[in-house]
Amino acid sequence: MKAVEVVNLKKSYPKKIPLPFRRVEWVEAVKGITFSVRKGELFGLLGPNGAGKTTTIKILTTLLEPSGGEAKVLGYDVVKEAREVRRRINLVAEGERTLYWRLSAYENLRYFASIYHVPKRDAERRINELLKMVGLWERRNDLVMGFSRGMKQRLAIAKALINDPEVLFLDEPTLGLDVQSTIFVRDFVKSLVKEEGKTVLLTTHYMVEAEKLCDRIAIIDHGKIIAMDTPQNLKKLVRDEEAVEIRVKDFSPEKVKEVDERLVVVEKEPEKGTLVLRGSIDEEDLPKVVERLIRAGAKILSVEKKEPTLEDVFIKLTGRALRD
Ligand SMILES: Nc1ncnc2c1ncn2[C@@H]1O[C@H](COP(=O)(O)OP(=O)(O)OP(=O)(O)O)[C@@H](O)[C@H]1O
Ligand SMILES: [Mg+2]
Repeated sequence: MKAVEVVNLKKSYPKKIPLPFRRVEWVEAVKGITFSVRKGELFGLLGPNGAGKTTTIKILTTLLEPSGGEAKVLGYDVVKEAREVRRRINLVAEGERTLYWRLSAYENLRYFASIYHVPKRDAERRINELLKMVGLWERRNDLVMGFSRGMKQRLAIAKALINDPEVLFLDEPTLGLDVQSTIFVRDFVKSLVKEEGKTVLLTTHYMVEAEKLCDRIAIIDHGKIIAMDTPQNLKKLVRDEEAVEIRVKDFSPEKVKEVDERLVVVEKEPEKGTLVLRGSIDEEDLPKVVERLIRAGAKILSVEKKEPTLEDVFIKLTGRALRD
């Protein structure tokens, strides 16, 4: 049995049209996606803003009903057997806000343990274990109010483990965290899968996160899966290409495609007035491309060869940058 099985899943949201028009328009957020996650797998949905990642997670965690298709978690249908699904999973939502700020870390976990009907004796042991696992043992009696963003996220993850879920869903687990907490969360998630045997489905728009962490990745864009494989195999799509990053100054992002179709803007630093452009351009073409950039008015700050990454896979498949 698969941990997660999704077949032709669809979700449309009604879009409010201002009066006097009385029609309803629909936004197709998820357009018929199919994938499955094995037990004990760390699976990532990677995609840009608005790709449909959160929508998919909400359906799988029974928070939203699909408009079409089918989704099963541990063999249970997320619509018809939602209760069975809920007993076996948990979720750390995007920008988790369900912690009680006026309670301590310990009291929060105590409260959620009671909601999940964890027997009192087990609860005590489990809470202590979890507080140690996420590195909050020393701070267990401090109010959440005084916690950093990273500490709150650690506690949110501990909270999501209180019912010992078989499948854990994480929506953008490291969004907005500092470097140290990001590393902690990534390592912790990895150990949950490798050492505790959990299944994890996470969403991210950080390529590095997907690449370093996930056993398999589905790249999702505009509600569709455009590629799905291990990070290694996905990178084979661009293996023979040469990734180049060109940092320019005083250049408008709109002019990039005019200079060369293969170039995309992967970073904007408005305060410095610089752009980082990326594309697979071989050695022979590179001088011409640089020349065209200069003629179009760009100041070249640096030109650097890079190892192809998942970013290049995304650029190749969509002609856009993931970070756009
Ligand atoms: N409640 C809603 N009502 C109407 N449209 C919505 C609603 N929630 C999401 N959408 C739309 O559905 C699409 C997918 O949104 P979703 O939140 O699933 O994307 P996402 O991949 O999680 O993006 P992000 O990386 O920004 O979190 C977007 O076009 C979004 O505007
Ligand atoms: Mg989202």
